[in-house]
Amino acid sequence: MIIIALDVDSREKALELVDDLKGQVSYFKIGMQLFNSQGPDIISAVKGRGVEVFLDLKFHDIPHTVAAAAAVAVNQGVDMFNVHASGGKNMLAKTVESVGERAEKLGLKDKPKVLGVTLLTSLNQEVIEKELGINKPLEKQVGDLASLCQEAGLEGVVASPREIKIIREVCGPDFLIVTPGVRPSWAAKDDQERVFTPGQAAEAGSNYLVIGRPVTAAPDPGEALTRIKEEIR
Ligand code: C5P
Repeated sequence: MIIIALDVDSREKALELVDDLKGQVSYFKIGMQLFNSQGPDIISAVKGRGVEVFLDLKFHDIPHTVAAAAAVAVNQGVDMFNVHASGGKNMLAKTVESVGERAEKLGLKDKPKVLGVTLLTSLNQEVIEKELGINKPLEKQVGDLASLCQEAGLEGVVASPREIKIIREVCGPDFLIVTPGVRPSWAAKDDQERVFTPGQAAEAGSNYLVIGRPVTAAPDPGEALTRIKEEIR
């Protein structure tokens, strides 16, 4: 399944993309650019188009604060949101607990899926060692963080498609893997480092492919998305 990243700052542009693409995809991602420029109302505006929303604000704070923000995300009706796995197990577990409680209080049939961000797809081995002081292979670190997320009760993780194999080994077949860092061979890599083509990511077992600029910055986003879907097929 494909999730389109609405990384724009105007409401009009975001809704135009949703209207243009919703015949081809049913999931859209609201990240900090759009959320910070338009505020929480943008969530109901996008949901009003009859599509699902992944709120990508990557919460990372003390457990109490993240759990409280997670409850607000449930109120807003998002279908999926994420937190940084490196916030630690207590933060992750408190978030899951808070989502369950709020969803029950609201009588929701489906509670939002909580995902942990493992390592950003813009990082590489050299950066994690020299700048972040992580002295293990990047894949091992991603596997360890995915395992922590699973133990804390999260539904899945956000990771590079290159790490699907290790995550499946550690977390099994049912754990959700959402992969940004997807680049068709004809698109620019931009600031993404650990990329796969859409076909490679789908074949490797990604549950959701997050795609932004290759579609949203294309002269004809609908046509770019059609090409990507054809490549996956
Ligand atoms: O334009 P592009 O396809 O690179 O967009 C990828 C999207 O996925 C961006 O919105 C980015 O914030 C998000 N993302 C990411 N790496 C992560 C988590 C989210 O690139 N680890």
